[in-house]
Amino acid sequence: MNQFDIAVIPGDGIGKEVVPAAIQVLETAAQIHGGIKWNFTSFPWSCEYYLEHGRMMPVDGINTLKQFDQIFLGAVGMPQLVPDHISLWELLVKIRRECEQSINVRPAKLLRGLTSPLKDPIPFDFVVVRENSEGEYSQIGGLMHSDDDEIAIQNAVFTKKQTVKAMNFAFELAKMRRKAVTSATKSNGIVYSMPFWDKTFQKVGAAYEDIQQNSVHIDALCAFFVMKPHQFDVIVASNLFGDILTDLGGAIMGSIGIAPSANLNVERKYPSMFEPVHGSAPDIAGQGIANPMGQIWTAKEMLDFLGYDEIGSLVLGAIEDTLVSGVNTRDLGGTATTLEVTEEVIKNILKKG
Ligand code: NAI
Ligand code: MG
Repeated sequence: MNQFDIAVIPGDGIGKEVVPAAIQVLETAAQIHGGIKWNFTSFPWSCEYYLEHGRMMPVDGINTLKQFDQIFLGAVGMPQLVPDHISLWELLVKIRRECEQSINVRPAKLLRGLTSPLKDPIPFDFVVVRENSEGEYSQIGGLMHSDDDEIAIQNAVFTKKQTVKAMNFAFELAKMRRKAVTSATKSNGIVYSMPFWDKTFQKVGAAYEDIQQNSVHIDALCAFFVMKPHQFDVIVASNLFGDILTDLGGAIMGSIGIAPSANLNVERKYPSMFEPVHGSAPDIAGQGIANPMGQIWTAKEMLDFLGYDEIGSLVLGAIEDTLVSGVNTRDLGGTATTLEVTEEVIKNILKKG
């Protein structure tokens, strides 16, 4: 029996609805496998917590989290009451950075039973590997002057260490998949960091002769995600490019409520954090109609990372069976509630298991 201590942060809005759903699924997976035991500990850190305590998490919050094997997070954000840069930087980004979760992995796949907004899509199945700790998302820069003379300077940071790490991860992942890596670049417009990115891609790629590799400018790549997503296997991208590409990846799947994401500490020194791509969806929060599939697929990503790929595949298969059966939430054109979809997914796991 393997025991896992999981820190659970439901967060705000629909996070509090979809996280319990996915936890039920994880319990079902453990029941079927027989060799997994989850110890879940829930933390109320969120915007609600901020309104009460003046901070998103306690001072020693990061140290507390570091005691756990993994972190399972819903979504944070109450944009009417707490500015998004506070909820993002003081909780999510803080955890990603201090737990050195320097790789963000986001798969996109045309699932059975899901209608993509693309017309007659050829089935696609790709993974975006996003550098998660630096790049365009730095706190280096500043503001000067005011009124008509106002100046904003925002620096981007690309270290060889993190760039190589993201690229190695992408190549290793491609080895186990369809053996192709595409690098997202923009070296025609960004003259220092992107040529550096390209040069590093070539150097890292030299050790992976059996893997097909090419570089595509980010603007063209966005267009290709719409025109021919089936041609991609693994895409490696900087922090900003990866962020943008993965929303598009989620969109072509059919709903942002489906897309999963994993922030990995590849060295396994600190916990990794698993969270869906979507946010707290204040517009539908509290109604019991949020799609739990993104959070459930995120649970599958955690199972995979822990080495339980077989159970992970079973969970994704059960999501697809549920989509096919038509038990869908409103974002997918159905009328089912979060609870009903969760029950159907669990039923389908038990059928397969
Ligand atoms: P959002 O993802 O929360 O919502 C965008 C749209 O998609 C909304 O119409 C929402 O109803 C719908 N949607 C999202 N997830 C859904 C689901 N599971 N089922 C059904 N419909 C779903 O993005 P938005 O509105 O830009 O941000 C809302 C708040 O969430 C903000 O405070 C933002 O900062 C935060 N946010 C947090 C993230 C995180 O915690 N990782 C990620 C993205 C946004
Ligand atoms: Mg994003």
